[in-house]
Amino acid sequence: MADVLIRPESPADRRGIDVVNISAFGEEDEARLVAALRNTPAYVPELALVAENRWRILGHLMMLAARLERRSGTIGMVALAPMAVLPSYSHRGIGSELVASALQRAGERGFPAVVVAGYPGYYSRFGFEPAHLKGVTCDLPVASEAVLVYGLKQGVFDEGGRILYPPLFRRFYEKSH
Ligand SMILES: CC(C)(COP(=O)(O)OP(=O)(O)OC[C@H]1O[C@@H](n2cnc3c(N)ncnc32)[C@H](O)[C@@H]1OP(=O)(O)O)[C@@H](O)C(=O)NCCC(=O)NCCS
Repeated sequence: MADVLIRPESPADRRGIDVVNISAFGEEDEARLVAALRNTPAYVPELALVAENRWRILGHLMMLAARLERRSGTIGMVALAPMAVLPSYSHRGIGSELVASALQRAGERGFPAVVVAGYPGYYSRFGFEPAHLKGVTCDLPVASEAVLVYGLKQGVFDEGGRILYPPLFRRFYEKSH
């Protein structure tokens, strides 16, 4: 997308990221969640991305450290959440750019898989697939159809399994859904 740069967030972006989250979600809870997540082990700085143009931060996305419990053992993976785009810039592909860039960066960093709980019609366009079709569940109180996974390493879901979200995010989700 012309003139939109995707890059990892830096401390100087925090105000702009707050504005994006508050205006996209229409409340401050998600902005506070984002700030709190930065102080937890779930924070993966290189997978906390902003979309910006010359003037301002337009979008923000985090991939958080999560775990996949399988019969053969537990492995690390990432969970895409939260994500937001300034309403005045939505429907222009900025969210898609953020997701595509985050998937590529997660793969380059060796993460084997990504999970997202969200709009199936949106995330399926990037190659996310319904988790339940792979025998995968997660610990969020969410309808199984809304949980989607993306394998970055072949065979990662061959045994199925259960995804454990970071505790802070899970508690937030339990309260808000
Ligand atoms: C969801 C969101 C990040 C998408 O960002 P975006 O830059 O508009 O995304 P793109 O331009 O790449 O794609 C737009 C598509 O997203 C999908 N989409 C956006 N909002 C949606 C919603 N509330 N329900 C279902 N699909 C939605 C639509 O398919 C839309 O397609 P369209 O433009 O043809 O209508 C943005 O709308 C947003 O910040 N929403 C509020 C916060 C939120 O719900 N975040 C996601 C959950 S954490």
